Amino acid sequence: MKTQVGIVGAGPSGLLLAQMLHLAGIDSVILESRPRSYIENRQRAGVLEHGVVRTLADCGVGARLAREGMVHEGIDIRFGETRHRLDVKALSGGQCVTVYPQHEIVKDLVAARLQTDRPLWFEARVTSLLDLETSRPRIRFEQDGETRELACDFVAGCDGFHGISRPAIPGGRIDSYGRDYPFAWLGILAEAAPASHEVIYAHHKRGFALQSMRSPTVSRLYLQCPVDDDVEQWSDDRIWSELHARFATHDGFRLNEGRIVQKSLTPMRSFVAAPMRHGRLMLAGDAAHIVPPTGAKGLNSAVGDVRVMAAALEAYYRHGDGDLLERYSEIALRRVWKTQRFAASLCTLLHRFHDEPRFHMRMQLAELEQIVEDPRAAELFARNYTGLPFDV
Ligand code: APR
Ligand code: PHB
Repeated sequence: MKTQVGIVGAGPSGLLLAQMLHLAGIDSVILESRPRSYIENRQRAGVLEHGVVRTLADCGVGARLAREGMVHEGIDIRFGETRHRLDVKALSGGQCVTVYPQHEIVKDLVAARLQTDRPLWFEARVTSLLDLETSRPRIRFEQDGETRELACDFVAGCDGFHGISRPAIPGGRIDSYGRDYPFAWLGILAEAAPASHEVIYAHHKRGFALQSMRSPTVSRLYLQCPVDDDVEQWSDDRIWSELHARFATHDGFRLNEGRIVQKSLTPMRSFVAAPMRHGRLMLAGDAAHIVPPTGAKGLNSAVGDVRVMAAALEAYYRHGDGDLLERYSEIALRRVWKTQRFAASLCTLLHRFHDEPRFHMRMQLAELEQIVEDPRAAELFARNYTGLPFDV
C-alpha cells in the first residue's frame, strides 16, 4: 500500500489536512484508531475564530456551519459580581467568533472525505513510524487483527496529545515546554436555554465559571474545581448551586437550570513541542501543542498548523519547491506561541490560585479592569480572541 501523505489520526487536524490536500489533488490515507461513532460524538470546545470559519467554508465544509453556527459579536466578562460586555467585533475591526460544536465539524469533515472516495480507515491503530529520515517513510498499523504497512512520501502526525507521532521523534531532536495548572474544569451539558446569548467568563472568589452553548436549547457550562476531584463528587444539586453562586451579579442575573445530560473533567495544561518536523514527519494540532481551554483555542490553533502544512505540501507537489516544507515548523510555531500566550494568560487571569489567593486576585482584578476600561487593552484582547491572522 502506498500514498503521497499518510495521515495519522482523524481528529479535526487530520481530517482538515486531508480535505485541503484533496482540493490540491494530493493523495492521502487517514488512519484512525477509533471507530467513526466515537470521533463524531466526542465533546470538545465549540468556539471558532473568524478565520477558521472562513477556512472551513473555503474548503467546501462550511454549509452546515453557516446555517447552524451561532455568530457572536461580543462576550460577557464578569468580575466583582458585575457584568461587562466586550464588543469583540467592533474592537477587532469586524471579526466575530462562531459557536459550533467541534464534533459537528468532525462530522462535516468525515462526510466530505467519504464523498471524495479517498481512504479514511477507522479502527486502524498506528503502532510505529519507520524510516522518517529517508524519502520513503512507512507507517505500520494494525487493522482487522493484522499488521500492515503504508509507504508514503510524508507522514502527517495528527494523532493528538497521546498519539505515537511525537514520541517517534528521537530524544534530543525535540524539546518540550509547558506547565500543568493546579485545577481542572468540570464541564456539563444541560438541557437548558443559555441565559445569555453570548459566552460568559466569570471571575469569582469561589473559582472561575464559564457559560457557553451548543444550541439555543442546550447550555455548555464549566466550573473550576480541584485537579484531583472526581465527577462522582459533583451531584447535580451541588453543580447548580456552585454555578448560581459564581455567575451571580448585583443586577440579579440567574442561569436557567435543566437536566444535566453529560459531566466530564478536563485537566488544564499548556504544552508545546518543537520543532514540529523531523525528517519527513510533520506534527499538527494536539500532537504538537496543548492549550488550557480558556479561550477555546485548541482547534483554532490546529487549523493554523494545517494551513501551513497543506500549503507546504502543495508547493512541493505542484512546483517541486521544498522551501515551505523546510520552514514548516518555524512558520507554524510563530502563531502557535502567540496563541499559547493568549490561552495561558487568560487561564491565569480568570482562575483562582490557592497558593497566593489574595495578592494574585488583586492583580487579576486590576488587569480585568484595564481590559474593560482601556480600549487599547480591549482591542488586543479582541484581536486575540477572534483570531490572529494566519501566516499562510
Ligand atoms: N493511530 C491512529 N489514530 C490515533 C492514534 C494511533 N496510534 N493515536 C491517536 N489517534 C487518533 C485519536 O483517536 C484521535 O481521533 O488521533 C486523533 C487525534 O485527534 P484530536 O485529539 O482531536 O487532535 P487534533 O485533531 O489535533 O485536534 C485539534 O481540536 O478537540 C480539539 O483538543 C483538540 O484542540 C485539539 C484540536
Ligand atoms: C465551549 O463552548 O466549550 C467553550 C467556549 C469558550 C471557551 C472555552 C470553551 O473559552
